This record gives sequence, C-alpha cells and structure tokens, in this order.
Amino acid sequence: MTSTARKKLLAGNWKMNLRLGEIAPFFDAFAGALKPGATGHCDILFAAPFTQLQATVAAARGRGFAASAQNMHFEASGAYTGEVSSAMLADIGIRTTLVGHSERRQYFGETDDTVAKKTVTAMREGITPVVCVGETLEERKAGQTFSVVSRQTKAFLEALKKAGLLSDAMKYREAFYPGDLNDGLVIAYEPVWAIGTGLSATVEQAQEVHASIRQVCREMTGPAFAEKVRILYGGSANPANIAGLLAQPDIDGGLVGGASLKPADFAAMCNSANG
Ligand code: PGA
Repeated sequence: MTSTARKKLLAGNWKMNLRLGEIAPFFDAFAGALKPGATGHCDILFAAPFTQLQATVAAARGRGFAASAQNMHFEASGAYTGEVSSAMLADIGIRTTLVGHSERRQYFGETDDTVAKKTVTAMREGITPVVCVGETLEERKAGQTFSVVSRQTKAFLEALKKAGLLSDAMKYREAFYPGDLNDGLVIAYEPVWAIGTGLSATVEQAQEVHASIRQVCREMTGPAFAEKVRILYGGSANPANIAGLLAQPDIDGGLVGGASLKPADFAAMCNSANG
C-alpha cells in the first residue's frame, strides 16, 4: 500500500486562541475559501480549547469537518482539580484529542509515561488520540533525533499493547458524524525546534523521520498498522511548504498551528492537499 491509499488529514491546532465570537466567522471564511468537494480528498480537523469545543463542534460538523480536544486527563475521573476526562469529551461529541503535544511536554511536565497513559485512556473511551512526538533542537544537534522519536513512539505503542488495545488502534472505527475521523490512532511528528519558529523541517528531514516512525510501528505491530496509520507533520507548516511535504511518501497530512488561525491560509493548505 502506498501513501496514496492514506487519505490526507489537515489538522488545525488553535492552541489558546480564538474567542467564542470568532469561531463562526472563522468557519464562514474558511469554508468560503475551500475548493468544492475538498473533504472528499482530505479530512479536516480543528483542535480547540475545552471551552470552545462545543461551539467548534457545532460550527464544524454540518460542514463535514471534525473537532478535537487539545488535551485530556489520563484518569477516568477523580480528584484532579482543573482537569477534563475523556468521558467528558465524549459527552459533548468529541471523538479526537491531541495527546502529548510538545508544549504539554515542555510547559506542563508531560512525559512519555503520561502520554502513554492518555493514549490508552482515550482509546478506551473510543476517542482517537493524535499522539505527538518530536525532538528538541539540542537533541537534533546531538544526533539523537531517531532515538528520541523512536523512544517516544515505542512508549505509547507498548502501553497500548499491554492494555490489549493495539488491535483497536489498527481498526477503522465507525464515524459517528460527517467529517469524523475513523482512525483508531494518528501520530504527529513535530520537531520542537520547528514549532512556531518559522523554521520548518525540510521535506527530506521530515520524510526520513516519518519513515523511521513507520518503521518503529512496523517492528512493533506488524505491517498492517504501519501501512495504515496516518503520520502528520507539524512545525511551521504553511501554504508555501505544505505541498512539498504532502508529496512525501510517509507524510499523510499536517498538524498546523499558526497558519490554522488564518482561514484563507488554512483553506489554501487543505486545497493543496487535494492536488
Ligand atoms: P506551528 O505549530 O504550525 O505554529 O509551528 C504547530 C503545532 O504546534 O502543532
């Protein structure tokens, strides 16, 4: 199976941006700039802050786009002040969440262990985790890119294996509403040094890491999951560089921060995913 068998996925990560009143106008502008039939070729997802999720779901769903959380807690419930559980996300129709974004790892103390626990908890709830991996600049300079990304990938795959959930990660799941992702799990490679810096990885740098992540998946789970899993690139992806990235055999989409806040730019990126 080649990458052409994997539908592209463009995921906007709004981070801590967009007030409620900005969401409907965003979608009007975004949908207006999208080529007709775009979602036939490219899944489109928006990861919004918790308080903006219901408005995002409402605005996205009718148009065939999916909404995602940016985080969740790894326990099902309990004394975790300020946290939100996977079941609470499911309550409002959220079926996807980012897990282990580098800003979570960097600023909120997330580790391979908490990322693995969150991945397991999300899958148990029927929520697709978009698990983020990626090396820091120091790690890249020290020649540790492949070992870091491999360690991060193995950590959540091992945890899924232990929890008996690896087969769920491999399955296509039922989409509950138009635009919903039907992946069991998605992986995002985001070199930390490229996030929000304007310094995108070159297509060659990105492709070789994506291929190595797919190889780790192959070794740990066999070929079926490795060929099926969508691996997104993130880190200063923009309308000018996205087509080159998406042309790589192991790059199946993008996780887009800054450019996803500009409706015309993000629409242009989704349009270029359609060739
Ligand atoms: P960026 O962010 O596109 O602004 O670099 C990507 C991300 O953090 O997901």
